[in-house]
Amino acid sequence: MVHEVRGVVARAKGAPVSLETILVPDPGPGEALVQVQACGVCHTDLHYREGGINDEFPFLLGHEAAGVVESVGPDVTHVKPGDFVVLNWRAVCGQCRACKRGRPWYCFDTHNATQKMTLADGTVLSPALGIGAFADKTLVAAGQCTVVSTVDPAAAGLLGCGVMAGFGAAVNTAPVQQGDTVAVIGCGGVGNAAIAGALYAGARQVIAVDLDDRKLGWAREFGATHTVNATGDVVAELRALTGGFGPDVVIDAVGRPETFRQAFDARDLAGTVVLVGVPNPTMVLEIPLIEIFGHGGQTKSSWYGDCLPERDFPLLVDLWQQGRFPLDRFVSERIGLDGVEAAFHKMERGEVLRSVVVL
Ligand SMILES: NC(=O)c1ccc[n+]([C@@H]2O[C@H](COP(=O)([O-])OP(=O)(O)OC[C@H]3O[C@@H](n4cnc5c(N)ncnc54)[C@H](O)[C@@H]3O)[C@@H](O)[C@H]2O)c1
Ligand SMILES: [Zn+2]
Ligand SMILES: [Zn+2]
Repeated sequence: MVHEVRGVVARAKGAPVSLETILVPDPGPGEALVQVQACGVCHTDLHYREGGINDEFPFLLGHEAAGVVESVGPDVTHVKPGDFVVLNWRAVCGQCRACKRGRPWYCFDTHNATQKMTLADGTVLSPALGIGAFADKTLVAAGQCTVVSTVDPAAAGLLGCGVMAGFGAAVNTAPVQQGDTVAVIGCGGVGNAAIAGALYAGARQVIAVDLDDRKLGWAREFGATHTVNATGDVVAELRALTGGFGPDVVIDAVGRPETFRQAFDARDLAGTVVLVGVPNPTMVLEIPLIEIFGHGGQTKSSWYGDCLPERDFPLLVDLWQQGRFPLDRFVSERIGLDGVEAAFHKMERGEVLRSVVVL
C-alpha cells in the first residue's frame, strides 16, 4: 500500500518551500513507517533549501522528529507498531571499518530506507538527512527509530538533530572536562545545547558569543556565565575573560571561515576547537601552517555530536525529566506544516531557537 500524505518540499535552490502531496510506501525489509507527531525546523533544512548541502532537488525537508511507529518491515524486531520514537540520521551499520574498530559514532555506512518516497507524479524525493519528516508520515530505516519514554513530541524531536549535535559537541567531541573554560560561538538551537552540555560536563566558565543580543539573553537562561557580542573583537574579549589565555575549548556552532578562525585563534595554547556548524562547499579558509603547529591542541569536527542515539537520546530524556536539562526551552513556537517557510525567515531574523511543526 502507498500512503498519500502531505509533505514540505524544496523544489529548487533558494525557492520558497511548498506543501505537496507525497507518496510514502509501506515498509519493506529493514524499514519502518512512522506517523510524525512533531518536527523541529533546523538551520540544516535551510542549508538544503539554499543548495548548500547538495543539488539533489527536490528535497523532502525536516529531520528533527518524534512520532509513533505505524508499521515495520517483515524482519524488523527492535521497534514495533505503537512505539514512541525519536528519529536519528545516523543508524550505524555495525559492519564498516569504524564500527568494527569500536567507534560506531563515526560509522561510514549509516542506513536509510531503501525504498523512495515520491511526489504524486513519481518524481523521487531526497529526504533531508535520510529522514524527511515535515510530513504526516515518513519512511526510514528501522535503525533510525530510537525508542524513548513517551514525552512531549515537540521537545523530544529536537533530540533528533540540533540539540543532540550541540550537546554532543561539548560532551562527546571536545570532550569538555571538569574545570574547563569553554566558549560557544553562535547561540541558536545547536549553540545553546552546547552551552548546556558544557555545564553538564563540569565547565567552570561558559562564554556565549553571538551577533544578536536577544540570543545572548537566551544563552544566559541556558546557563552561560558570560556573553560576548560578536560585533566586537571576539578573540580579544574571549582572552580577556579567561585570564588573558583563551578558553580551553571553543565550539563553533556557526560554521563560517570567520567564526572558525576566531575559535582557532581564541583558544588557549593546546586547546581544542570543535566545528559543529556546517560550512557550505564554497567556503575556504587559509591558515599559515606554522600557526596550526605553533598553537598545538586539536581541531575536531562534530558529526551529530558524535552521539549514539540508542545511548544518548534516552539519557537526555531522563536528564530533562529530572530537571537537569531544559529540553523544552528550545521550543520557541509550535506551527503547522504550512508554517515552515515563515519559520525559516524567523530563524534568519533570530526570533526563535526552534519553531516546531506539530501534527
Ligand atoms: N554537526 C551537526 O551534526 C549539525 C547538526 C545540526 C545543525 N548543524 C549546524 O549547526 C549550525 C547552527 O544551527 P542552528 O540550528 O543552531 O542555527 P540557528 O540559525 O538557530 O543559530 C545560528 C546562530 O549563529 C549566530 N551567528 C551567525 N553568524 C554569527 C557570527 N559571525 N558570529 C557569532 N554568531 C553568529 C546567529 O545569530 C544565530 O543565533 C548550522 O550550520 C547547522 O547546519 C550541525
Ligand atoms: Zn558502520
Ligand atoms: Zn538538523
